[in-house]
Amino acid sequence: MSVDDAEMSQDDDWRRVDAFLQSLQPPDPVLDAAYARAAAAGLPDIAVSPLQGRWLTVLARAIDARRILEIGTLGGYSSICLGRGLPADGRLITLEIDARHAEVARQNLDAAGLSAIVDVRVGPAMAALEAMTPAEPFDIVFIDADKTGYPAYLRRVRPLVRHGGLIVADNVVRKGAVADVAGGGADARAVREYLQIAGADSGLLTTVLQTVGAKGHDGFAISIVTQTVR
Ligand code: SAH
Ligand code: DHB
Ligand code: MG
Repeated sequence: MSVDDAEMSQDDDWRRVDAFLQSLQPPDPVLDAAYARAAAAGLPDIAVSPLQGRWLTVLARAIDARRILEIGTLGGYSSICLGRGLPADGRLITLEIDARHAEVARQNLDAAGLSAIVDVRVGPAMAALEAMTPAEPFDIVFIDADKTGYPAYLRRVRPLVRHGGLIVADNVVRKGAVADVAGGGADARAVREYLQIAGADSGLLTTVLQTVGAKGHDGFAISIVTQTVR
């Protein structure tokens, strides 16, 4: 068996197990429809997987989140998962540069019954972040937009998160490219820098969960704020 074949069967195995674990979940026509609408609109197939989305919902519930910020909306799949973790009077602000993505997301959030608590803002994330102040801090920030922006997003959102709040970043492993310190490309360098900044911040407790499954081999960084900065 060649190295390629070995990788292929390993990847198949991750997908098979993910599908099995997913099959144990209750049916979710709302999320299924959100995937379908995004696919029909030609959006890239890069949303979090159903089980990863569930993890976001669990996290939000676990810390009784009331205010969440998401960077990178796409078709609103992860937004629905985060929004589901909020109380009826909670707030999710989600930032998206592509107006077409934002429109699909609005439709999906509407169909999910979440439009009242979700604010989809169109434009470059950094411009929106620069206008935000710690006056209304977030319980969770989920970073999932352009990977090269991750270091700047982390620095910018750091003062916007409450003590005990979470900063979560998707796609920080990228099939292991994060550890290819001699290369790995611009995205890998940027997520590595993100992890270096998080790791060196004495007011953050950070860990990385490598993930395998429907999305191949990747990972989430998760940091809890133990010391706020202003
Ligand atoms: N969180 C989504 C996936 C996001 S994909 C989910 O899991 O369902 C990344 C998204 O970030 C894309 O929709 C892309 O258009 C958006 N994006 C890329 N660069 C951006 C920027 N500078 N500001 C805001 N959004 C950006
Ligand atoms: C890709 C995957 C993601 O989850 C994302 O947020 C952006 C890009 C990708 O596979 O290219
Ligand atoms: Mg992602």
